[in-house]
Amino acid sequence: MDHFLYRDGALYAEDVPIADIAAAVGTPFYVYSTATLKRHFTLFDEALAWGDHLVCFAMKSLSNQAVLKILADQGAGMDVVSIGEYLRAKAAGVPGDRIVFSGVGKTADEMRQALQGGIRQFNVESEPEMIMLDQVAQSLGKVAPITVRVNPDVDAKTHAKIATGKSENKFGIPISRAREVYAMAAKLPGLKVIGIDVHIGSQLTELAPFEAAYAKVAELTEQLRADGHEITRLDLGGGLGIPYTRSNDAPPLPTDYGKMVQRAVGHLGCEIEIEPGRLIAGNAGLLVSKVIYVKSGEDREFLIIDGAMNDLIRPAMYEAWHDIVPVVEPAPGDVPAKYDIVGPICESGDTFAKAREMPAVAADDLIAFRSAGAYGAVMASEYNSRPLIPEVLVNGDQFAVIRARPTYEEMIARDTLPAWLSTPDN
Ligand code: LLP
Repeated sequence: MDHFLYRDGALYAEDVPIADIAAAVGTPFYVYSTATLKRHFTLFDEALAWGDHLVCFAMKSLSNQAVLKILADQGAGMDVVSIGEYLRAKAAGVPGDRIVFSGVGKTADEMRQALQGGIRQFNVESEPEMIMLDQVAQSLGKVAPITVRVNPDVDAKTHAKIATGKSENKFGIPISRAREVYAMAAKLPGLKVIGIDVHIGSQLTELAPFEAAYAKVAELTEQLRADGHEITRLDLGGGLGIPYTRSNDAPPLPTDYGKMVQRAVGHLGCEIEIEPGRLIAGNAGLLVSKVIYVKSGEDREFLIIDGAMNDLIRPAMYEAWHDIVPVVEPAPGDVPAKYDIVGPICESGDTFAKAREMPAVAADDLIAFRSAGAYGAVMASEYNSRPLIPEVLVNGDQFAVIRARPTYEEMIARDTLPAWLSTPDN
């Protein structure tokens, strides 16, 4: 459920008409709902209330500091994958002991900064990383708390580009080698093994792959304990999918996920961490855009809008579906139209939807892409010299710009000319 509903013939974000935001900030823009963010976090928090747990928001999905602050105030931790994300979380007020550092390519410098600033744990993904972290920690006179991310070789049954738990993927240590890797970690004085980490993919729409992976983690926990390791924390990753369309079967709810986690690993007495991104942020955001032209092709109508693939890459990159709705509520008897919905960028991949049935719209009408809160703004670029679009936060009847649209001058001023090009001779 989200808080983007039609009311009095117009689409609202909580108690704010989308059209009012468009009038104030221009289009395109992202808008997020505070109530939806809080609701989704609380669903997870309550689903794991049967035991000691921490929900660490995968901030790669949406990293605006205002959003991080809302979630941190609710008690969330953060899952970060770069020192940039770590520093952003710190800037938003998240304490280091609630920040988990994931990722296959952490550099020594990133490790150093996180150890100095305070960190809950590193999720280590390889032996060379383990050796590097040990050296960095020792050089600082610190001990780094770690889990080892294991790759359980489970098919997550999701889009190939976002599956991470098969042996062919670059993530984690093969679970078959886990015991020797833990034995190695135990010998390194700069590390303290505290648990196990697993993450098998994103936008999972069934619980079975999770359950298969977690059963393997439970078995490994027993084995590692028998080997003499203290395993007190299980990081079970993110990945629970969201409904991208209102007409499909919805993926499982966080409550069912929480019960499954209890079934799979509850008997081990470990503290549970999870790292959801999409489920918290996805349906808490819209991308709002304006129709520039309706253009007739040979056999189709093109809706040319002012948003483009640089603003929302998911359809071009993953063939992702986003529901697209007009901001003015269609009347009950309106005949739907069919459009190819495209942006102004100079490549055919700049297509959001093909032959999409939706209510008829005209030039200057506003439309909204649903489920755009996660992996929307964070994946945007300035391709075609289109400045990053603003982010707006709604809370009840108030809204605020939480990242401003840069001016063209600001965008252009970031380039610098080397001296040899700026001298008069050239
Ligand atoms: N933990 C780790 C280690 C991850 O790699 C990810 C996502 C998550 C947690 C959060 O997964 P979520 O709960 O959001 O499914 N750009 C793609 C999604 C990439 C996901 C990458 N890793 C998209 O737009 O679909």
